[in-house]
Amino acid sequence: MKLLLLAMFWFQQGPGPAPAPPPPPTQPVPYSHKVHAGDLKLPCKTCHTNPAPGEVMGLPEVTTCMGCHTAVKTDSPHIQKLAGFAKNQRPVPWVRVYQIPSFVFFSHKAHAEAGATCETCHGPVKEREVIRLESNITMGGCMKCHEQHNASNDCSYCHTPK
Ligand code: HEC
Ligand code: HEC
Ligand code: HEC
Ligand code: HEC
Ligand code: HEC
Repeated sequence: MKLLLLAMFWFQQGPGPAPAPPPPPTQPVPYSHKVHAGDLKLPCKTCHTNPAPGEVMGLPEVTTCMGCHTAVKTDSPHIQKLAGFAKNQRPVPWVRVYQIPSFVFFSHKAHAEAGATCETCHGPVKEREVIRLESNITMGGCMKCHEQHNASNDCSYCHTPK
């Protein structure tokens, strides 16, 4: 019954146009994917390890950064700020860009196994100085791709944990 009411709510609203993407957030340290994943060719998994069971990609520990930055660019105020987080054993408070509510189930591993690449959903990250929302990860956006790939669009598929 509750689901039926939810369904009625959804069909009344319709997916509608994707909301205008918000501007990229200001991050605590101006980290650049273009420099690290592009120019320096660091693989994504150096920093995004996708630990089992594979739902999240995760963000790197500051120790990963300090592997290089105890020696590289130590005169930069940005690197000094980074070193401060490491010294105090505090995580860097990165501002999330792609985030869906906790009542939605999403697995990176399942989508990688279905053949989607990072670029499919996150755009050409290696060319980006800053990360911003580049694809539609609203319910309408998810459903559109599921429809195109004959994946289920049953409410329970995305709203019940596996
Ligand atoms: C494999 C080594 C390596 C790792 C790991 C690494 N960096 Fe870097 N980073 C570099 C190099 C090399 C540069 C300098 C590029 C240049 O300007 O020539 C750089 C530049 C930077 C700069 C620009 C500094 C400035 O003021 O010019 C920031 C900020 C930065 N890195 C942050 C990070 C963060 C945050 C992490 C961890 C998420 C990280 N780096 C991990 C090698 C690394
Ligand atoms: C040296 C470490 C490092 C490497 C290599 C790296 N990233 Fe990241 N990534 C980060 C850090 C730090 C953040 C958080 C700051 C930001 O959003 O720019 C981040 C954020 C992201 C985000 C946004 C997450 C969110 O929701 O806020 C995406 C998407 C992403 N990375 C994709 C990639 C892809 C794809 C690759 C490989 C092409 C890659 N990253 C390589 C360190 C790295
Ligand atoms: C089918 C679309 C899709 C693909 C493919 C995809 N992502 Fe994501 N990514 C998302 C969504 C949706 C979120 C938000 C997840 C959440 O909030 O639970 C996200 C979140 C992230 C985050 C933030 C941290 C986290 O784990 O939530 C990072 C980092 C990231 N993705 C990196 C990557 C990398 C690297 C790849 C390729 C190996 C990749 N993504 C492939 C859709 C995708
Ligand atoms: C690039 C196209 C694409 C996008 C975008 C996409 N999906 Fe999927 N998704 C698929 C495909 C294809 C499968 C089917 C995998 C299979 O049949 O094994 C799938 C499977 C799933 C599964 C089942 C995974 C499992 O563990 O069995 C869930 C849940 C899911 N998607 C949720 C989402 C959500 C939530 C979003 C939006 C945030 C999303 N998807 C965006 C293509 C996509
Ligand atoms: C392919 C994955 C997927 C499927 C299938 C799906 N949803 Fe969702 N749903 C999402 C995502 C992602 C969000 C959060 C983003 C948003 O609000 O658009 C969401 C949000 C919602 C919300 C909250 C809306 C709001 O404005 O906060 C409701 C209610 C909902 N879904 C009901 C349903 C019902 C009913 C069905 C079946 C007709 C369904 N969903 C099928 C992915 C899915």
